Amino acid sequence: MRRSFWLALAFGCNLFAANDCLPCHTAIAEAFAKTGMGRSITVRPAVLPGTFSHPLSNRHYTIEGGKMKRHQRGPGGAAFNVIEKTIDVAIGSGNHAITYGSRTPNGMLLELPVSWYSQEKAYFMSPGYDQPAHFDMRREITESCLFCHSDSAQPAAITCRRCHGDAAAHLAQPGRGNIYNPQRSSEVCFQCHLETESMGIVDSMRKPGRDVFSYWPGEPLADYKLYFDRADPPAERFEVNHTAYRLIQSACYQKSAGKLACVTCHDPHSARAREACGTCHQSEHTRAKATGCAGCHMPKRKAQDALHITMTDHWIQRAPKFVDPVKENHEPYTGKLVPFYTKADPLLTAIANVRVPDASSARLYEQYLQRAPKDVPTLIALGKVLIRLDRDRDAEARLRRALALAPREAEARLALAVAIGKQGDIDGALREMKAVVAAVPDDSYAWLNLGLTHRGLQQFSGAAAALREAIRLQPDLAVAQQALSSLPAAK
Ligand code: HEC
Ligand code: HEC
Ligand code: HEC
Ligand code: HEC
Ligand code: HEC
Ligand code: HEC
Ligand code: HEC
Repeated sequence: MRRSFWLALAFGCNLFAANDCLPCHTAIAEAFAKTGMGRSITVRPAVLPGTFSHPLSNRHYTIEGGKMKRHQRGPGGAAFNVIEKTIDVAIGSGNHAITYGSRTPNGMLLELPVSWYSQEKAYFMSPGYDQPAHFDMRREITESCLFCHSDSAQPAAITCRRCHGDAAAHLAQPGRGNIYNPQRSSEVCFQCHLETESMGIVDSMRKPGRDVFSYWPGEPLADYKLYFDRADPPAERFEVNHTAYRLIQSACYQKSAGKLACVTCHDPHSARAREACGTCHQSEHTRAKATGCAGCHMPKRKAQDALHITMTDHWIQRAPKFVDPVKENHEPYTGKLVPFYTKADPLLTAIANVRVPDASSARLYEQYLQRAPKDVPTLIALGKVLIRLDRDRDAEARLRRALALAPREAEARLALAVAIGKQGDIDGALREMKAVVAAVPDDSYAWLNLGLTHRGLQQFSGAAAALREAIRLQPDLAVAQQALSSLPAAK
């Protein structure tokens, strides 16, 4: 029942909620439309023209006419390795920032490497891209990203249903008691505002069998996904999406027996904040200060995962001390992950902690598949581990199953090509590789693998063409450079 509701909404009925509620809840609907949430995504946005040069990666970007163009400059200043993408969606209201997405002919949404930052009113690299080798125009905007920023898997601004759920019964008979009212529950907010870390760790895992957009308001969050954090997180870690993560660690939250909710301070519909400290704190100190409590106890600071964005620190402390970061940190975390906020599940915790693709991680994925036999990402992960273990025939079976469930899954097809190629069927591998580059023509690794397969078949001109495309897409891809220069035809 619920599933069909979500599916029905995925097909372009995005105006459903706001339009249907407006006549009776006019003030709420109008207030919400003005919030950042009510403007969280814009399809076919108007984009300010501009340029941004990134010397660290020798890439130059021009934004104009609804497109983003990238080129590199050679010694004489001549432009080469040119790529151009249309700007099809804007993620973010622009209260703080806007990141752009480009739709590929195959329907995939790619994240663009340059974002707009409102405080500085200027373009800079997107969060995580300020390094010599970055994702450039190759990174997919996944459903998980859309889960927090969009009303559904089709890009659209967030609406009422993300907090109130299915409204069919209520619309049939408007009144109390037949639609979910979150009242003081914060989990409806946590579904999007709780994140322990945005890059570098497995921050959370959905429970086996749960699709990205399968969470419904009112359901315990722990039935949908489990959260993880570093075993020993640095106290001063502070990110763009850290409101709930930091609030949960506050004495105010921990020692007030569930009385401190997001809506204690925020009106959910206008998103406006009032400090509300006085409901719990009455002392000489608070009477003397009267207001402005947040300025001292919840200061605004630079986010470590997006240096051009300043956010309110929701970890309410006596005397917060911090140093603003000066550059992006790309150091991978190799330590242990432990459950955060939600209770431990031994299997999921073990999988979140997988670091090496070895026999024991393969066993963990097998166990997970017993609980969720149709989980495509796990089938792919298992397939890849089995390839590493030289169990190519087993890998092939898992990857074929993944493709039977999700025929457009290019990652599965790429791994399948490797699995059958390793078993000696190079022609079959070549066929699959060609299907992969047709499906994901922006993926440098797909072209690299196609090139290597051609080389394996002694087809050197095909190999050279594919490797050159890999390099155009990703100029820093050293393996492709090496493979190209080692080809007999290129010498
Ligand atoms: C035809 C008028 C009408 C429409 C359309 C309507 N509502 Fe209501 N809604 C009401 C009335 C009447 C109440 C009860 C208010 C009261 O008793 O003060 C209500 C109450 C609610 C409540 C509180 C329920 C509770 O049990 O506390 C929520 C939440 C709500 N509406 C959400 C929505 C959403 C979301 C939509 C659009 C999908 C919507 N409504 C469309 C008339 C409407
Ligand atoms: C579907 C995901 C989602 C849910 C559910 C959600 N938020 Fe948000 N919220 C966002 C996103 C995304 C933004 C940033 C939007 C932007 O400005 O682009 C945001 C922004 C905000 C803001 C900043 C001010 C503004 O104008 O938007 C506040 C305050 C806020 N949310 C509070 C809440 C509270 C309180 C709840 C629960 C009652 C909640 N949110 C539930 C995704 C969500
Ligand atoms: C777990 C949920 C979640 C995920 C996943 C997520 N975001 Fe966000 N993001 C948020 C929330 C919530 C905010 C608002 C934070 C705040 O105002 O405190 C935000 C803020 C932003 C903003 C700034 C918006 C503004 O003007 O305030 C941009 C841009 C953004 N995210 C882009 C992305 C992109 C692109 C992805 C995917 C690659 C992504 N986010 C993944 C929840 C998420
Ligand atoms: C970000 C989450 C969120 C979104 C989106 C949201 N609401 Fe709500 N809504 C809440 C929460 C939380 C409450 C209960 C707390 C409160 O009443 O302030 C609530 C309460 C209500 C109520 C009951 C108010 C009362 O007096 O009891 C109505 C009616 C309502 N919402 C309508 C809507 C409509 C219509 C929309 C879309 C335009 C909408 N809401 C969007 C979170 C949300
Ligand atoms: C729902 C009740 C509640 C609200 C609202 C609330 N607090 Fe608290 N706060 C508490 C409790 C309970 C403690 C723990 C007191 C103790 O340890 O004896 C606390 C502790 C604190 C501390 C000491 C922190 C520490 O780590 O020792 C500060 C500072 C503080 N609150 C400031 C604020 C400010 C500022 C606001 C408003 C922005 C606020 N609180 C809102 C309940 C609340
Ligand atoms: C004790 C009060 C308090 C609580 C509880 C609280 N907030 Fe806030 N929040 C604030 C204040 C104060 C601001 C700053 C408002 C401003 O600058 O206009 C703020 C700002 C925000 C913003 C705007 C972006 C930013 O970081 O500046 C978001 C998003 C947000 N809160 C979300 C949440 C969510 C989600 C929850 C629950 C997990 C929550 N807040 C709980 C007081 C609170
Ligand atoms: C000018 C900065 C400033 C403002 C404004 C401010 N505080 Fe504080 N507050 C402090 C400092 C500093 C401490 C820590 C004192 C210490 O630990 O010796 C503190 C301590 C506290 C504590 C810990 C217990 C106590 O009473 O010592 C609470 C609770 C608190 N503040 C609440 C508030 C509230 C509520 C407001 C707004 C009405 C507020 N503060 C306004 C700076 C401020």
